[in-house]
Amino acid sequence: MTLDGKTLPLDEASRSAASALGLDYRLLDTDDPEAFDDVLRAIGRGFLEGEGTAERRAGTREALGFRRFTGVFDAASPTPRVPIATVDSWVTDLTLPGARSIPMWAISGVTVAATHRRRGLARTMLEGELRTAADAGLAIAGLTVSEATIYGRYGFAPAVYATRWRLATARTRWIGSRPEGRLHYLDREVVAAELPALHERVRLGRPGEIRPWDGLWRRHAGIMPGQEDVAALRAVRWTDASGTPRGLLVYRLVAGSDDFADHTLEVVYHLADGADADAALWRFALEHDLVSTVTAPLRSTDEPLRWMIADQRGATEQRHDHGWLRVLDAPAALTARAYAAPGRWVIRVHDDLGFADGTWMLEVAADGSATASPTTVPPDVVLDVRALAAVLLGGVRPSTLRDAGLVEASDAAVATFDAAFASAHTPYLSVWY
Ligand SMILES: CC(C)(COP(=O)(O)OP(=O)(O)OC[C@H]1O[C@@H](n2cnc3c(N)ncnc32)[C@H](O)[C@@H]1OP(=O)(O)O)[C@@H](O)C(=O)NCCC(=O)NCCS
Repeated sequence: MTLDGKTLPLDEASRSAASALGLDYRLLDTDDPEAFDDVLRAIGRGFLEGEGTAERRAGTREALGFRRFTGVFDAASPTPRVPIATVDSWVTDLTLPGARSIPMWAISGVTVAATHRRRGLARTMLEGELRTAADAGLAIAGLTVSEATIYGRYGFAPAVYATRWRLATARTRWIGSRPEGRLHYLDREVVAAELPALHERVRLGRPGEIRPWDGLWRRHAGIMPGQEDVAALRAVRWTDASGTPRGLLVYRLVAGSDDFADHTLEVVYHLADGADADAALWRFALEHDLVSTVTAPLRSTDEPLRWMIADQRGATEQRHDHGWLRVLDAPAALTARAYAAPGRWVIRVHDDLGFADGTWMLEVAADGSATASPTTVPPDVVLDVRALAAVLLGGVRPSTLRDAGLVEASDAAVATFDAAFASAHTPYLSVWY
């Protein structure tokens, strides 16, 4: 059963740190709609959004009420009920190589009011989150970030990269497969109902993916109360020749210039169970009448689409860091995944915050399963906890980090490490959280 983060106690060290600044760090009661609304206002303000409507806040309360919300309050504020710093978290499942899964402490909604910035409040909250997760026995924490400069200092590193696609349809003629099957438009309620099950079917094949929450599916389907910018949202489902639903494409069409043939098809969410569904959905988008441009966020860095269009230069791919991980328990994280090649290494992990600091013998058997035990033997591989997070899913090669000066190992050790840590599937995370 998944651990409920809301049942865990408040981190006392962070409470004392906030108290030393004359501030009150406490858990929020998500059953109190007014208090929850004040937190949502603070989060919206932190992310530079508008005030939002009461209807929208009510929808968000329903969608996010399952999470643990922590806030920092300033009694001297004219609005003392609105926190001046926020964070929320919950336990989800992270896919690891080998179709394995590990419980992960997901962190979101990190904001500090512009009036209270750079006094150490983000540090207070993040360290509190990591201690809470580690004390609860979680081996790993994760987040997606607004800026790549914020979380390295807490031991996080990008382990999943993503690409943003922009395709000029005049150049990207379809040369890919044309699998037999059918496309149909769907009502939004049906989209919201079908997305979770379809995602669950593919989740374990994607290292780096998490299990999203129901509210996210409702937002993708455009049925969150008070949701803006959904008027032009459409969705199609692809079913294979046997009639089995295999893919969903949610998108919106946005008019461009005066030329009616100059619309942009913005992919909101593209979810395919298998290569045929993937090809069918992309082909639908690229061959849509009156569309000159197709855009798609959060695609894999190794998208088959590149090989299914006539002119690869008709597509622009913008790569960015996406899924950040923080290892809290090195042996537990290392033994939770499967490896691509057997071997034995002594690994020294440095962790400024202490959680994952230590030396372990990692032994990988021929079937890819691993054991890790503490040792005093001199290490073959020395790395920081950030480098460990970066290589854990197989998306970043240990030898690349060695060349960047972030891993110490001999040529022989790093070559075997590369082979073992490789993943059959490119790490992929399809959502922001
Ligand atoms: C990012 C944010 C939470 C930082 O809060 P803060 O309370 O000012 O941060 P702290 O005072 O605890 O700073 C801790 C450290 O992070 C650094 N830091 C904080 N924000 C940073 C940023 N945006 N870029 C680079 N470094 C940053 C500080 O310089 C400090 O460094 P140090 O440990 O070397 O001294 C806050 O600026 C914010 O709310 N930003 C807008 C919302 C947002 O982007 N949230 C993150 C969502 S993923």
